[in-house]
Amino acid sequence: MSATSQPQPGPVGKASKPEHRVTLADIAKMHADGRRIAMLTAYDYPTARVIDEAGVPLILVGDSLGMVMLGYEETVRVSMEEMLHHTKAVVRGTRRSLVIGDMPFLSYGVNIEHTLENAGRFISEAGTQAVKVEGGVRSARTIEAIARAGIPVMGHIGLTPQSVHGLGGHRVQGKTVESARHLLADAFAVQEAGAFAVVLELVPSELSAAITDRLKIPTIGIGAGAGCSGQVQVITDLLGLTYGFIPRHAKKYENLAERMSDAVTAYASDVAAGTFPAPENSSSIAPEVLAEVLGEGALDRAAATAAAAVGEPIPLDRDL
Ligand code: KIV
Repeated sequence: MSATSQPQPGPVGKASKPEHRVTLADIAKMHADGRRIAMLTAYDYPTARVIDEAGVPLILVGDSLGMVMLGYEETVRVSMEEMLHHTKAVVRGTRRSLVIGDMPFLSYGVNIEHTLENAGRFISEAGTQAVKVEGGVRSARTIEAIARAGIPVMGHIGLTPQSVHGLGGHRVQGKTVESARHLLADAFAVQEAGAFAVVLELVPSELSAAITDRLKIPTIGIGAGAGCSGQVQVITDLLGLTYGFIPRHAKKYENLAERMSDAVTAYASDVAAGTFPAPENSSSIAPEVLAEVLGEGALDRAAATAAAAVGEPIPLDRDL
């Protein structure tokens, strides 16, 4: 895609909802048609349903799960079991979006057997359609092995959170000639290894656009400017539900933390005031049934009399 053929705005919402689950071919077609590709993270069933029903083609169950949902300080703390648990819930909440499972720290790259076993678990146990791994040149053989095993794989270069300590913190990558060249090499390595798309995280806009122009596969940017083939955001950043550090590239479309807090506070004061539950939130029992239960009805009196006759009195409300 050249600078003069930037991605076109694609239809969103109901109009663009596919009738079937999005396939790699659909993503390739969107890319070929110059339509921008939206991706969001999800970690649970209801959020996945909302994203899926809104017609977002790609959902990533990111290992950001660890920080934004599980309260860990770093993504490297997330285990395969935690990822699979949440990924299964996301998959259950989707019918159309293509779901990508983010392979957690050291679940890949140690050796090929271990990598394939874990990548396979995302597909066969959790039900995703693809996996994502971090790293460019250094992960090329891993990506190749996963792709050759028939598992669609997305790459992730630039700021790769699983190696954030080695990268010197959450900072923009590729700002010097040397690091920008490395990034370009990473992008080609991921493509040549067989990835169907690549995430560019915290990359200068001009460099992302240049990479996007040179690659055949779509680039999905996060903090990488508007020149990528698509964009990804962490859903809690978008909805205003992230506690702690919020990156500059995130745009808050809602303030759910505030709205949830208002709702929770209103509920607690309704309980204190006795205004919740109201009749419409409650159910009723027929008065004659209640009377029987409390030993005040004809049936109850007959039963008590019969029970007394055999020496087993039924305890009535007044006897308790
Ligand atoms: O884990 C995650 O949420 C991610 C995205 C930021 C791309 O990897």
